[in-house]
Amino acid sequence: MPPSDPHAAPIVSIDQIAHHDGQTVTLRGWLYNLRESGKLLFPIFRDGTGLIQGVAHKAGVSAEVFEALRSLTQESSLQVTGRVRADQRALGGFELDIESVTVLHRIPESDPYPITPKEHGVDFLMEHRHLWVRSTRQAAILRIRAEIMRAAQEYFDSNGFIRTDPPILTPAACEGTSTLFPVDYFGDEAFLTQSGQLYVEATALALGKVYSFGPTFRAEKSKTRRHLTEFWMIEPEVAFCDLDGLLELAENFVSHIAQSVLARRSPELLTLGRDLDRIRAIQAPFPRLSYDEAASMLQQAHKDGHLEHAFQYGDDFGSPDETWLSSQFDRPVMVHRYPAAVKAFYMQPDPANPSLALCVDVLAPEGYGEIIGGSQRVDDYDLLKSRIEAHNLPIEAFQWYLDLRRYGSVPHSGFGMGIERVVAWLCGLEHVRETIPFARTLNRIFP
Ligand code: 4AD
Ligand code: MG
Repeated sequence: MPPSDPHAAPIVSIDQIAHHDGQTVTLRGWLYNLRESGKLLFPIFRDGTGLIQGVAHKAGVSAEVFEALRSLTQESSLQVTGRVRADQRALGGFELDIESVTVLHRIPESDPYPITPKEHGVDFLMEHRHLWVRSTRQAAILRIRAEIMRAAQEYFDSNGFIRTDPPILTPAACEGTSTLFPVDYFGDEAFLTQSGQLYVEATALALGKVYSFGPTFRAEKSKTRRHLTEFWMIEPEVAFCDLDGLLELAENFVSHIAQSVLARRSPELLTLGRDLDRIRAIQAPFPRLSYDEAASMLQQAHKDGHLEHAFQYGDDFGSPDETWLSSQFDRPVMVHRYPAAVKAFYMQPDPANPSLALCVDVLAPEGYGEIIGGSQRVDDYDLLKSRIEAHNLPIEAFQWYLDLRRYGSVPHSGFGMGIERVVAWLCGLEHVRETIPFARTLNRIFP
């Protein structure tokens, strides 16, 4: 390689451009858009960190540069050098007076970039997801997703939790047998994990406060705007914690995430058209509702004509129920003590009414519905064993889990939060398919 030119302009990213006002810099990226007006070209560049408009005067650059730029196609990659100039009216507050352009890869007119500024259907966009992620909106969503994940880990890491990641290949179900993905494990049947919970219960009894964070899998055969077959879950588990302690943990955790997104990703929220006051309102404490209270509200809503179907006491909430309940509050609402019959086998019964489980679902506002599910866990050996049997789960696969109740059992609690549900809510999206780089759903495993 030749020695680098000491006079070469520094390579900078667009998000750092404000530090280079008046300087000549080099940007590396893609052509986002191009407008021509007489002897002027106004290309807009993107580099993954932002957008900036350039200005090329026919008289100010060489004829080759002017022509190369004038005929450049959308999403061609390039390197551009120019002088940064502050301009109040400009996109992002700065423009680039172009001096030179090096085209790295020119997309030919005969095979243009498939996603154009005109409207495309969702199926087309999902089919081209590998390219769609370049759009301003999708990039904003992915940045917010990354901040949600960062803030979620930060909350636990700075509050005494130890991250312990459970296996993804597992011998048994955690959340019901109807959504398991089987895997051939050297001739034996194994499953992709539905939740790391059972394993973090073990590490909580070793380390006190723990969490896991990773992908989880459910063979969801329904097409809804809330369900993926592969999604990311973060799951804290705490020894000596009861349901009340768990509710406090959940509201502080969710508030921390919402306020971090507001503090660090407001420009992206605005790109998505989000009203920042909605996010500002997400502060602990959150309202609490017992299942009984929530059921009465749903029955009243039906009488008043706000809900089409009549809610049956004892049922689990369906999507329309959650949507209605969660649109009654400006903060997430924590619904606790559901009938044990509609919940998982591992939930501790309420001593005040053993037909209820000491559990919580956190429903996000604006109709987004469940973002968190959790509970206090059964800590008595005999009760847990009878629950496993009553649910027709293979007892041998749960021997190790029962051991946790044989050797120094303690009350303990935990929850799981689905990252994509939180991304959909905080970004104000219609559907979870846009919340993850490459969504996996009933009908899609491509690209
Ligand atoms: O309520 P769930 O099923 O709870 C559990 O899995 C517990 N074992 C967690 C625990 O206590 N450690 O799932 C937890 C959360 C839901 O509230 C939801 O946010 C998300 O995971 N989730 C899904 N997200 C996207 N697609 C799906 N198919 C989801 N299923 C659950
Ligand atoms: Mg749930």
